[in-house]
Amino acid sequence: MFADIRQAVDKHIEQVLESCPYPASLYDPIRYVMRIGGKRVRPILVILAARSLKASMESVLDVAVAVELLHNFTLVHDDIMDRDDIRRGQPTIHAKWDEGTAILAGDALIGIAYRRLSRLKTERLGELIRTFTDAVVEVCEGQALDKEFEGREEVSLAEYEDMIARKTGRLISMSSKIGALAAGGDPEQVEALERYGSLIGKAFQIQDDLLDYLSTTEELGKAVGSDLAMRKATYVTLEAAERLSGESLRRFKELLGDHGSGVSEELRRLLKEAGVLDSGRRAVEALMDQALLAVEDILESDGNSELRRFADWILRRRY
Ligand code: IPE
Ligand code: IPE
Ligand code: MG
Ligand code: MG
Ligand code: MG
Repeated sequence: MFADIRQAVDKHIEQVLESCPYPASLYDPIRYVMRIGGKRVRPILVILAARSLKASMESVLDVAVAVELLHNFTLVHDDIMDRDDIRRGQPTIHAKWDEGTAILAGDALIGIAYRRLSRLKTERLGELIRTFTDAVVEVCEGQALDKEFEGREEVSLAEYEDMIARKTGRLISMSSKIGALAAGGDPEQVEALERYGSLIGKAFQIQDDLLDYLSTTEELGKAVGSDLAMRKATYVTLEAAERLSGESLRRFKELLGDHGSGVSEELRRLLKEAGVLDSGRRAVEALMDQALLAVEDILESDGNSELRRFADWILRRRY
């Protein structure tokens, strides 16, 4: 999906990497993580948001790539925090090199992202940089909450929703907002696109939480059961605790406590019986509908409705 945009983004990323020659101990890991790829969801969204307001892809490529660089920074550090050794089907930087290398690669990625962003020629640069910076800080807040909730007995739905809005939603809503800003959108358009991104972002993390229990490492490119191993508060743990009762709930908690044995068949069966997968799917679909409602006015004037295709693509994602 969106192969042409992806290709343009990847080409632009290559240009960024070529301007990073020395020292290899810093740039080899950066090149490595950026070249393995990933879905490129966020830069694609920047471009689609801008195009929905009739701006060209070329005019926002630097912004799109800045967002992808920032996203990769969050992943490199997240994998240290979550002790994950595999991502996108390959060893993570800290596993292939070491933690110090991964910390530094992440730091430099933020700097390189800002460098790209500042190249944009628009009188709105100040606003763009503020929006970008707010997202950087908010992702860190979300990640802090994610760590705080690890192993905690009670996490409310409101706390969970706030946490995922910060750690994941914000970067995705920033992508659509910044695309709209760079395209010269008016305040209503910017707000509508930001809301669209924020709802999709929330759905995106719920899917991610479900995939951690229900997918396979092969398909996901990440270690399945990582959330269980880290005793994370996720959509799955919250929803299962809500839906299960009596003996099933007791057994579910026991299996969560015994996280060393991974996502067992029994655990999957309990989740299926409890309807966690179905309720997750419904929650994601409802969020996608709300996202499309938020940009109704823009969709009406946008004949080919790329924003609809984007929501549909995310809705169907399997990794
Ligand atoms: C992973 O993001 C981190 C989350 C917010 C769940 P993606 O699923 O977009 O990762 P890549 O870039 O495609 O690898
Ligand atoms: C994603 O959280 C949030 C960020 C990376 C900032 P996860 O920890 O669930 O992401 P994955 O599953 O490792 O990609
Ligand atoms: Mg994490
Ligand atoms: Mg993680
Ligand atoms: Mg995850």
